[in-house]
Amino acid sequence: MIYLTEQLDTKQKQHKIAEFDCGVPALNTWLKTQAGQAARKARSITYVIADDDQMVLGYFALVVRRPYPTELLPEEFSAAFPVTVPTTLLARLAVALRVQGNGVGATLLVEAMQRIRQMAAVNGDVLLFVDAKDGQASFYQKYGFTPLASEPQTLFTRIDQIPAQ
Ligand SMILES: CC(C)(COP(=O)(O)OP(=O)(O)OC[C@H]1O[C@@H](n2cnc3c(N)ncnc32)[C@H](O)[C@@H]1OP(=O)(O)O)[C@@H](O)C(=O)NCCC(=O)NCCS
Repeated sequence: MIYLTEQLDTKQKQHKIAEFDCGVPALNTWLKTQAGQAARKARSITYVIADDDQMVLGYFALVVRRPYPTELLPEEFSAAFPVTVPTTLLARLAVALRVQGNGVGATLLVEAMQRIRQMAAVNGDVLLFVDAKDGQASFYQKYGFTPLASEPQTLFTRIDQIPAQ
């Protein structure tokens, strides 16, 4: 099946989010109560995959992250970025329980990485971070992310190493 990723419609509200359940209450609540407001205030952008009835099957949200201290990163970064590195954060990624295991999460993650790669050409971001929920770090490692030694649930990848698609 081909999944189409599109921006969450916060104006016409065509996407149905009320019944979204990924099994993690905080991720469900954020989509239902905060994604729209965050988009209107330009604090984050949410993208969704929906079915033919506009029921949301999964989503991700991107936010600008503050410059990240180089001292917390592997040594390779300190020569080019002595103090901080500009970064983007994939703040949330979730798939409805009823469709997990069918490639929706992979589609969302690859799409998020491509969008960030394109945006970085303009904003100069160097690293993409994700904050993985418990037990999900290995999902991101599958797609090239490296856990921070000091904080294994926080993972990053170099944006210039995301392959173009
Ligand atoms: C983690 C999550 C996004 C994965 O989405 P999904 O649609 O079930 O994943 P996919 O079907 O696209 O799986 C893609 C690949 O990742 C693997 N994978 C999925 N979840 C994984 C996990 N937790 N750890 C390691 N690998 C995982 C799959 O086996 C598959 O591998 P394959 O291509 O070799 O077959 C989804 O389970 C989810 O939303 N969980 C609840 C919310 C959450 O924890 N979000 C992440 C928080 S940061």
